[in-house]
Amino acid sequence: MPVNDLPALLKHELGDLLYAEKTILKGLKKMTREVSNPDMRQRLEAHHEETEQQIQNLERAFEAMGQKAKAQKCPGILGIMQEHDEFKSDEEPSKPILEAFDLGAGLRVEHYEIAGYRSAIALAKALKQREVVELLRQNLDQEVAMAKFIEGAAAASLQEVQGKLAQEEQARGARGAKTAAKKAAGRRASAGGASVSDADASAALAD
Ligand SMILES: [Fe+2]
Ligand SMILES: [Fe+2]
Repeated sequence: MPVNDLPALLKHELGDLLYAEKTILKGLKKMTREVSNPDMRQRLEAHHEETEQQIQNLERAFEAMGQKAKAQKCPGILGIMQEHDEFKSDEEPSKPILEAFDLGAGLRVEHYEIAGYRSAIALAKALKQREVVELLRQNLDQEVAMAKFIEGAAAASLQEVQGKLAQEEQARGARGAKTAAKKAAGRRASAGGASVSDADASAALAD
């Protein structure tokens, strides 16, 4: 149906936001599984609950306009989700790198939502739809708070990721040294006819 007036445009925007929130609800579950930092995990779980509330608020906003709630396919949010999924499948990141990537992916989602709510609030204000404005503002406040949390937590999370990467690097170095020592001990043993044990490798490492 053609959208020819502002109430129809607001209805379209509410449908777009409803679709986005429902998509984000699934995405948040996925992202929570990828995150190991307990504070971030807890915050993501809380935002999952907030998102359920946001969906109800959007349905109430439709009601306030005397409309039946209807989600409208939102290619924008699907694109952001696809970017996350493609990074995972194409770049095969390690767990800590995926966790670092998710900070940016999460922030992109929040800012997309913030833009959507601010636009819809401007429309609802112009149409003097006070109840709609109030419901959308509740959602907007939660998105702004979530974006602030992600930005505030980024430095500590990235430091944690750097620590994990350094540990992994150290473990790889130690494994490499042990393999090299084992090979060297093997060469010496085959020259002398004896078998190679971990003890030989350790002794070679101690040389
Ligand atoms: Fe949301
Ligand atoms: Fe959000």
